[in-house]
Amino acid sequence: MMVHIPNVLTPDEVERCREVMQKAGWADGRITAGHQSEKVKFNLQLPEDAPEARELGDMVLKALGRNPLFMSAVLPQQVFPPLFNRYDAGMTFGSHVDNAVRSHAIAPIRIRTDVSSTLFISEPEDYDGGELVVEDTYGSHSAKLPAGDMIVYPGTSLHNVTPITRGSRVACFFWTQSMIRDVSKRALLFDLDMSIMGLSRDHPEHPSVVQLTSVYHNLLRQWAEV
Ligand code: NI
Repeated sequence: MMVHIPNVLTPDEVERCREVMQKAGWADGRITAGHQSEKVKFNLQLPEDAPEARELGDMVLKALGRNPLFMSAVLPQQVFPPLFNRYDAGMTFGSHVDNAVRSHAIAPIRIRTDVSSTLFISEPEDYDGGELVVEDTYGSHSAKLPAGDMIVYPGTSLHNVTPITRGSRVACFFWTQSMIRDVSKRALLFDLDMSIMGLSRDHPEHPSVVQLTSVYHNLLRQWAEV
């Protein structure tokens, strides 16, 4: 289940990200790579303990908190402090799966990476290549979104970033431990929530709105780990 979440950051917040990132000290992206992914990872990253990463990360966390689509699609239990990467021409990240469990360099956090997120900071026309390609049971899906938009996808998926052939691609990425560990249950709850929202928009007085809302919460109560 890949979900496109538009306008996670406002244009001003995107601008602030770019400003801070321009002046930041970038490190080799392999600082957070696992054993397999370090062989295919060629990009730059802000170190987890860099003050720039913390400032921008906090801004992203606040933006997630006000985003109902993120809440519905991910059902977050804990969000890893957001990280930031950059791909210049020639850089790429070959096919890999993210580590199942992640600890942070300074924050006392250890999470299971149920959901991966990529929040685009560059505009798509500012670079060529740099598509995020995610493989699921229905084939490959690629994403290259407007600045401020985000894609979320299951942490269980193999994925890659195609080589950049022009310009630079900067993005924010992070993982979330979901209250719903199982991807198919999470997808069902998301579909149900979207259906309830559609129904209550078109037929707000329909008694099924209350009934279905009750079903949603009772499923969540059965499945959620909090
Ligand atoms: Ni990855």
